[in-house]
Amino acid sequence: MSRTEIAKVEGTIRLATGHASNRIHPNIYGHFAEHLGRGIYEGLWVGDNSRIPNTRGLRNDVVAALKRLQVPVLRWPGGCFADEYHWQHGIGPREGRPQMINTHWGGVVESNQFGTHEFMDLCEQIGAAPYVCGNVGSGSVEETTQWVEYMTPSSDTPMVRLRQRNGRAEPWRLPYFGVGNESWGCGGNMRPEHYADNFRRYNTFVKNYSGNRVERIACGASGDDIRWTEVLMREASSQMNGLSLHWYSLPTGNWSLKGSATQFGEEEWCSTLVQTMKMDELLSKHQLEMDRYDPERKVGLVIDEWGTWYDVEPGTNPGFLYQQNTLRDAIAAAINFNIFHKHSNRVTMANIAQMVNVLQAVILTEEDRMLLTPTYHVFDMYRVHQGATSVPVTIEAPEYRFSSRTLPILHGSASHDGAGCIHLSLVNLDPIRGINVRVLHSFIRVSGQILTGGAMNAMNTFSSPSEVAPVPFFDFRQTNDALLLELPPKSVTVLELL
Ligand code: AHR
Repeated sequence: MSRTEIAKVEGTIRLATGHASNRIHPNIYGHFAEHLGRGIYEGLWVGDNSRIPNTRGLRNDVVAALKRLQVPVLRWPGGCFADEYHWQHGIGPREGRPQMINTHWGGVVESNQFGTHEFMDLCEQIGAAPYVCGNVGSGSVEETTQWVEYMTPSSDTPMVRLRQRNGRAEPWRLPYFGVGNESWGCGGNMRPEHYADNFRRYNTFVKNYSGNRVERIACGASGDDIRWTEVLMREASSQMNGLSLHWYSLPTGNWSLKGSATQFGEEEWCSTLVQTMKMDELLSKHQLEMDRYDPERKVGLVIDEWGTWYDVEPGTNPGFLYQQNTLRDAIAAAINFNIFHKHSNRVTMANIAQMVNVLQAVILTEEDRMLLTPTYHVFDMYRVHQGATSVPVTIEAPEYRFSSRTLPILHGSASHDGAGCIHLSLVNLDPIRGINVRVLHSFIRVSGQILTGGAMNAMNTFSSPSEVAPVPFFDFRQTNDALLLELPPKSVTVLELL
């Protein structure tokens, strides 16, 4: 019998409710905004003279949508941009700020209109903690130490006086500082030994002032570069609070022809999800190495860039990394969150690349219009897991096979909110077959939301912005000892179980 003739498959879920384990760090739901394409300029910052409604230059529609997500932490200014950014150019009266060329992203002129004050204002408006990434590749130790001195002390120092002259009397809280970005590549093409020494040197001058405690995040590996992790842990783990990891899901795995964001068939649906599932394997491998040097798990694994990466939308600047977002991205986001929950004993932060108009964005803008992508809705549905306690989930279900690839058909995670409520998040990866699931527990009250669409590439557009949006989930019934769910193909469901 062919796969399409089997309309539905059966699955079983057990929740180890008595074995609630680690806290899911809220920062797993973090974001990343780089000076890249229309991410900062247009997407977040329009300037205070714009006809687009704004508060001190930050667009009100985008800020309101981000506030709803309870963004816990925001990484800035890059990315590759961070290692050519000189923070002093982004402070003071805006009309006097020098320009520069954004060499990594389209060679466009960077106006420096959005700098430290504007970033901190954005964090305050959306309620996120700032995570600033410093310039190790082309900056100096002095620049780094002065930036931290500009932002965090309350005492009378030259940098504090400069900050005050620029309009900010009180220090900002700076909980996270990244010591360089992708130092193995765009951040300086360093060997791990050389970077480890640089990390130790720069980090020495990142000071804790006026009661502000900065957690220091070292540049980590890309993908499965375990040697990078090994060297960094061996040489510098005692001085860091976090070690980063970057992993992007490309449908083809080929950087010169990644695949389209919207025009794809089941082959690329499947290959994108295989690449996404690889996150689980990578986290296990890097953790194993980290455990050798840090068995007490003092150093967090910080996935400060993750997401899907496709060819840019036809007709757009190749350096701007603008891509549409479909149901496939929603499924990929949900799988990543389930994986981060599973590894919550080591993963202390994750930042989607990126927030607005770049890569797997949660928001797209076009002049004064804004839309929420399917990925946004997954962040919204899954935010109930922020800060909750992870509950181990055992899933028994057949596999989803397409050509030579095999994936689990059903992927999930659960957490306990401490007030008696369990949230169970389930993804049906199969674009064709529904699943009848038996959750082997009984509950007093069940409710939920589901996100799905008519096609694998269902998406929200400016002419039809609500094509993919969550709706209440009613396809369940209870027996004496089980909860029966009918999960349609290509869907994400989040249940609240009491
Ligand atoms: O997110 C886009 C780019 O991807 C970042 O600038 C860089 O760190 C990574 O290679």
